[in-house]
Amino acid sequence: MKIEWKDELSVGNTQIDEQHKTLISITNKFHNAMLNEEGNEAVLDVLKFLDLYVKIHFRTEEKFMEQTDYPYLEEHKQQHKDMIDFVENMKKSFVINRDNYENVLKLNIKLMKWYVDHISNSDKKLGNYLQDKSIKVVVVDDKVGD
Ligand SMILES: [Fe+2]
Repeated sequence: MKIEWKDELSVGNTQIDEQHKTLISITNKFHNAMLNEEGNEAVLDVLKFLDLYVKIHFRTEEKFMEQTDYPYLEEHKQQHKDMIDFVENMKKSFVINRDNYENVLKLNIKLMKWYVDHISNSDKKLGNYLQDKSIKVVVVDDKVGD
């Protein structure tokens, strides 16, 4: 399984769209690394990068929300938190049982579906809101702590 970027996934904000494309590409790369049995170290490297990038991306969206007093900030942040926890658990599950890709592949498919659902609903709602505001870009430092 693979998720593909489609124009329908655009939220109308270039910075967010570009990050979503990157996120989808890393998730696919992680999936392929497991399917192609590229080795535990390669798989873990991609997973760590996914974990980091998810956090950077969510920080970016949250900064947009904070700077525009977005009315659904709390519920949107909660969805991000749930996904961060999910990726953290996926990482733990991989570290504990490195040779059992089957379970992690299932989790990753769940994450892919979750993204598409989140982008199509919550992020589009945010994107529409941002289009009414004059904000197009935010700056987020990439030092993400836990
Ligand atoms: Fe989001």
